[in-house]
Amino acid sequence: MELKVGKVNQTMELLPISVVGLGGWGKNVVRSFSQTRRAKLCVLCDENEEVIARQAVLYPYAATTTQYSEILAESNIHAVALVTPSPSHFNLAVQALNAGKHVFVEKPLSLTVGDAKELVALAEKKQRVVMVGHLLEYHPAVNLLKSLIQTGELGDIHYIYSHRLNLGVVRLEENALWSLAPHDISVVLYLLGKEPTHVTAVGQSYLNPGVEDVVFLNLRFGEEHMAQIHVSWLDPHKERKVVIVGSKRMAVFDDMHPSEKVRIFDKSANVKIGTANYVESITVRHGEIRSLIVPNQEPLLSETQHFVDCVLDGKTPRSDAHDGLRVVKILDAATRSLHQNGMPVEIL
Ligand SMILES: NC(=O)c1ccc[n+]([C@@H]2O[C@H](COP(=O)([O-])OP(=O)(O)OC[C@H]3O[C@@H](n4cnc5c(N)ncnc54)[C@H](O)[C@@H]3O)[C@@H](O)[C@H]2O)c1
Repeated sequence: MELKVGKVNQTMELLPISVVGLGGWGKNVVRSFSQTRRAKLCVLCDENEEVIARQAVLYPYAATTTQYSEILAESNIHAVALVTPSPSHFNLAVQALNAGKHVFVEKPLSLTVGDAKELVALAEKKQRVVMVGHLLEYHPAVNLLKSLIQTGELGDIHYIYSHRLNLGVVRLEENALWSLAPHDISVVLYLLGKEPTHVTAVGQSYLNPGVEDVVFLNLRFGEEHMAQIHVSWLDPHKERKVVIVGSKRMAVFDDMHPSEKVRIFDKSANVKIGTANYVESITVRHGEIRSLIVPNQEPLLSETQHFVDCVLDGKTPRSDAHDGLRVVKILDAATRSLHQNGMPVEIL
């Protein structure tokens, strides 16, 4: 089958892109690329013809195929967005880079550290953009938290915790750690601008043997900061929350709150040096609670726009392959800790 995608203008004012994988999440990614400035959604690809048919009616101008190889062979397609199940990310991304395409790939970048390193090296060798779908790095509330940390509003950051809880979606091919925690890990790394030294993880599988439904992950950043991530698809609440405790103030990002997504708590506890007794040495300060205005931007659209802008303007994405590798290193170390009943594992 020949893909009729049309010639692309030589100056590349528009990035011709194909979305591969049009399932549960892929349909959102297609919609987002269809609305992204300077993107030209050219081909919809899925192995499953029924899945393609459901999307094809919405984008009649795009060609369709069940064969990924046809996209690789089509020189007028300059970028692919891979929204297929995680075990396929590495192979599909390698093939796309070898065919000279830029790659947007959903999280996690790969399932092993070795594969992630290979993708980092291949992207550099081929001089192509590889961007991982660490969606929350493009969330306006997370960017607001980042600027609060950078401007010193919160003081020194003591610790961060993050909850990603719900009843479902239960996955069979990956556990809650690999399915859900890439988002929280990428947020913690982005906010702190550092990699942890040690990871511990405990979890349990209740529904499918060997597939953990709930995981508690702890990250240590030397003696300085720590972070805890709780992920579960077996929980009564739908909760998506990040809490940052700083020496001056504390911040809460509650993505489930309809109007007050980011609040600053002007609260802290201080230790006075040189006081006679312990009770006098600690002072606790309760100040006001402020709700901040979060820009009304859809994270997914910001993410797809960032990818297209980086490709066309020759820039490095915020969530590039190095970022993907950092997250996979932590997932890998956490898996080893999980299998050793929560033994601390050093991140090398
Ligand atoms: N960023 C987010 O918030 C978010 C949310 C959900 C899922 N995801 C990620 O998106 C990816 C897909 O998840 P999903 O829930 O949409 O899965 P899904 O199973 O619903 O859909 C995957 C689709 O890919 C197709 N497919 C598989 N291999 C293919 C191939 N080689 N060529 C063409 N089509 C192929 C399948 O037919 C299916 O339609 C996963 O990596 C997941 O981690 C990200």
